[in-house]
Amino acid sequence: MMLLIGSGQAAGQAILEGERFHPVTASQGMVATSHTLATEVALEVLKKGGNAVDAAVTAGFALAVTQPRSGNIGGGGFMLVSPGDGSAPEAIDYREKAPAAATETMFQDDAGNVVPNRSRFTHLAAGVPGTVAGLALALERHGTISLQQALAPAIKLAREGFIVPRRFTEGLEEARGRLERWPATLSTFYKPDGSAWQPGERFRQPELAATLQRISDQGVKGFYEGETARLIAAEMERHGGLITLEDLKNYEPEVRQPVHGTYRGYDIYSMSPPSSGGTHIVQILNILEGYPMAEFGHNSADGIHHMAEAMKLAYADRSKYLGDTDYVEVPLLGLTSKAYAESLRKGIDPQRATPASEIGPGDPTPWESPETTHFSVVDKWGNAVSNTYTINFSYGSGITVQGAGFLLNNEMDDFSAKPGVPNAYGLIGGEANKVEPGKRMLSSMSPTIVRKNGQNWLVTGSPGGSRIITTTLQVILNVIDHGMNIQTAVSVPRIHHQWLPDEIRIEQGISPDTVRILEERGHTVVGGSAMGAIQSILREEDGTLHGGADPRRSTSSAMGY
Ligand code: DON
Repeated sequence: MMLLIGSGQAAGQAILEGERFHPVTASQGMVATSHTLATEVALEVLKKGGNAVDAAVTAGFALAVTQPRSGNIGGGGFMLVSPGDGSAPEAIDYREKAPAAATETMFQDDAGNVVPNRSRFTHLAAGVPGTVAGLALALERHGTISLQQALAPAIKLAREGFIVPRRFTEGLEEARGRLERWPATLSTFYKPDGSAWQPGERFRQPELAATLQRISDQGVKGFYEGETARLIAAEMERHGGLITLEDLKNYEPEVRQPVHGTYRGYDIYSMSPPSSGGTHIVQILNILEGYPMAEFGHNSADGIHHMAEAMKLAYADRSKYLGDTDYVEVPLLGLTSKAYAESLRKGIDPQRATPASEIGPGDPTPWESPETTHFSVVDKWGNAVSNTYTINFSYGSGITVQGAGFLLNNEMDDFSAKPGVPNAYGLIGGEANKVEPGKRMLSSMSPTIVRKNGQNWLVTGSPGGSRIITTTLQVILNVIDHGMNIQTAVSVPRIHHQWLPDEIRIEQGISPDTVRILEERGHTVVGGSAMGAIQSILREEDGTLHGGADPRRSTSSAMGY
C-alpha cells in the first residue's frame, strides 16, 4: 500500500502498520547513535537508572573509540538538554576555539591568496578541542553518574578492543591517502604491516585507553593539563601548529540559551551561535509556515521549490551575519522573527526559481529588537538530549597526537579563510566569521528538540556539513507536515540548497518527473550521494518512544527498553 504520508495525517503520529519503514518502539528509554556499540553502552546506563545526560555522555566517549572518523575527544560540538519536567532547555557549547596565536590571515599567503588545504590538513587546521570539557560539564550540571562511570565503557572498548564492522574498514581504506602521511595515525589505526583492520577482526587502542584513563583519574585536567596536554603541545611544536599548554588550560565550554521558534504550534529548540543551525532552521520553518506544505505533498515539485527558495534566502543571510556571538553581533531576533520571514516570503515566486545571483543577504535588522555524528537519548522521565559533535572531516585533520592515540579536528576550516572564499562545504563567510584568537568557528550543527504542548516530542540532529541544517529541517517537516513516523521521516530522500552553488542537490529517489518540473521553473538539479545521518527519537504524549536510526549509515542503531 501507499505510504501513509501527505495531508490529512495527524502530525507525527506513530503509525506502524502499513508503512515501509518501522521505528524501534519502547516505553522506558531510547538511544539512537551512529554506532551500535555506543548505543548499547548508553542504553545500559539508562537501564541501570541513569538519566539521558548520563547515557549521552557515555555514548559520546564510546563513539570516540568505536567511530574514530567522527566520534572524538579531539574535536567539539553542541549538546541540547531538555528536561522532562518542561523547564527550559539548555545548550552546552563545547565548540573548538581558535588558539591565542591565530590570526585573520593565517590561511593566506603573502599575496593574500588562500593556501589550499592549510586549514584542512596541517597542524594549523586544529582548533582547541572542547569535547572532554563539554561532556564533563553536561554530566556535572545534569548527570547522576560520575565521569569515571561514564568513561568506563569507552576505556574498556579501547583497551580490550572491539570487532570492526565493514564500514570501519572501508572508511580507513578510503581515507588512506591522507592518513598514512602521519606515522602516529598509521600506527594507531592500521595494522603493523600498514594494512587496514578487516571486518570481523578485533581492533585495540592502548594509547587512547591510557588517555581516557587519565581523564577518568584526574577529571578534565587529565586532558587539558598534564601528560595529554603536553603531548598535544609537543605535537604542535614539532609541526608548526599553534595550540599551546595555555590554550588548553584556558579552554572553557559555555552554557547557552538555545534558539527558540515555533512551527504550526510546535516549539522548536535548536543550537544557537556559534552554530548557525538553529537560527536557520527556525528561519526556514518561519518562511515555510506560510505555505501549505502538507497539501503540496512530500517531495513534490511545489514542496521542493518552496523549500529550495527558503533555503537560499537563509544561507545567503548565513554568509553575512553568522559568527561567534562572543565576538560579533548577530541579529538573531530578526533572523528568527515571523515578520522577517513574511518579508522574505514576498520575494518568493511560486513558479520561478530566483537565481542565486539575484539573492543576497537580506536585512533582518528592522526586526531585531535588539563526518560529524549525532546521537539522541530520551529517558524514562522524559528528559531528552540531542548531541552533535565532530572533528569536521572524516578523521578530521588526519593527524593523530603522537603518544595519545586520538585524531585532531580540522575545524579551523569552518572559519572564513578569506571573505568570499568558500570552505570545504562551499559555504561563504565574511567579517562575522573571520579568524580571531579565542573565537569559535561558525558551525552548521543543529541538535534540535521539538516540544508539543510543552513536552519533549521530537529529538533529532545530523552530520553533513552545510547539509545538516536542511537535513534536520526536512525531518521536522516530514513529521509535522507529512505525518510520517520517525523512521520514515529519517529514511525518505532529501534535498538541499545552500544559495551558492545555485543548485538543488537531490538524493536518489526523487522522481525524474519532479526534477523536470523543477528544471522548467529554472532550478538546476544535481544528483549526489546520500546526505546526513540523522538519529532521531519521537516521544508520544503517553510516553511511548519511537527511535529512527538513519539507514544511510550502516552502523546506525536505535535501541530502547
Ligand atoms: O560544524 C560544522 O558545521 C562542520 N564542521 C560539520 C562537519 C560535518 O558535519 C561533517 N560530516 N559529515
